[in-house]
Amino acid sequence: MIKYNFEYEKKVKVCFIGAGGHSFRNVYPTFQYAPIDLLAICDMNEDRARDYARQFGARNYYTNHHEMLEKERPDAVFIVTAYTSEGRVQATELAKDIMKAGAHVWMEKPTAASTDEIKQLMSMSEEKNLLVMTGLKKIFFPSIEKVKEIMDTPAFGKPSSIYIRYPQSIPVLEERGDLTKMTGFLDHIFHPGSVLHYLMGPIRDFSYLREPNNGGTVTNIRFTSGAVGTMHMTAGMSKTSPLERLEVIGEGSNVIVENGVKVTYYRELESRNYGRSASYLWDNKSAPLYWEPEFSLGQLYNKNIFYLGYVQEVLHFCEAILEEKPLEKGTLQESLEILKLFEAYCTAEQGTLTTINE
Ligand SMILES: NC(=O)c1ccc[n+]([C@@H]2O[C@H](COP(=O)([O-])OP(=O)(O)OC[C@H]3O[C@@H](n4cnc5c(N)ncnc54)[C@H](O)[C@@H]3O)[C@@H](O)[C@H]2O)c1
Repeated sequence: MIKYNFEYEKKVKVCFIGAGGHSFRNVYPTFQYAPIDLLAICDMNEDRARDYARQFGARNYYTNHHEMLEKERPDAVFIVTAYTSEGRVQATELAKDIMKAGAHVWMEKPTAASTDEIKQLMSMSEEKNLLVMTGLKKIFFPSIEKVKEIMDTPAFGKPSSIYIRYPQSIPVLEERGDLTKMTGFLDHIFHPGSVLHYLMGPIRDFSYLREPNNGGTVTNIRFTSGAVGTMHMTAGMSKTSPLERLEVIGEGSNVIVENGVKVTYYRELESRNYGRSASYLWDNKSAPLYWEPEFSLGQLYNKNIFYLGYVQEVLHFCEAILEEKPLEKGTLQESLEILKLFEAYCTAEQGTLTTINE
């Protein structure tokens, strides 16, 4: 059950770096439903920092994060920033400054632009015993969590294959060494990449084909589990279309997510008399299960900050801090696996098999 902010007795003392568009829409509003005491906001743009502090109830605002960390001494800091002019992720260095000041870190994806940077964050986090969580919202979608729950039941059987669709283009190979040309791809690979890892585990190897006009790709994947998958990056599709589609196949079973919210679970049918069945209305025990939200009631699940997993990812972080337990989702290990994939796309010729985990 979701509690409202004022109902929590114990709260995490939090500072926030970044007063931009995404954070205004989707991150600050989650604090209404989380055990968070927002101490201060920092943005290099002073007007923004002041306006956001007023809007979201922070007591102070700053334009320099070092000064904020020194004066406020928070338990944790949220970072929702963007990219440097060289295409590096601003949040990566900020996360190090925050850990130096002794606070836990929650950051938007992408965590970093290279596996080396992730490894640096990993060793600092371990050495200082501080949490570093990335907001991998897709794996907090209620629909994706439902898929995982179904996949973990014996009735689903061993997951054997997966299809995931996400609209994203990739530049020509010659441009991929330039991070400024790869910002869009880096920004978005975290979405399908996190879902693939959450549901199927690490990738062993992959190969892709690129379409030259839109820069869309199809990628064939083999996971270390032996399961296989296809990632279809549908650059060129209509902006009016639902973006995503997901299907996982088990043993005599499959589960589908359409448009992030509609879930259909086709369950195992024990016997089908081929050529003799007059009805497709299988018995209730084997009939498909289907979920979609009603959009009538003023329920929390009808807010995008819930069906897109934003509140849940923030709660996961706060609970780990307050209960002194490790993160299970949004870990640096997951970011490392996604960045292995990113780095491989940066150098791999299409049509070749690239191994990222032996
Ligand atoms: N998960 C999602 O659904 C989703 C959606 C959109 C964006 N994002 C992510 O959010 C981030 C961008 O968020 P946005 O739209 O709010 O960006 P934005 O560019 O609108 O805002 C970033 C803000 O950070 C500030 N900033 C940067 N470095 C700073 C520093 N050192 N100190 C103080 N302030 C600093 C800038 O002044 C700016 O106001 C990206 O990481 C992007 O990938 C995620």
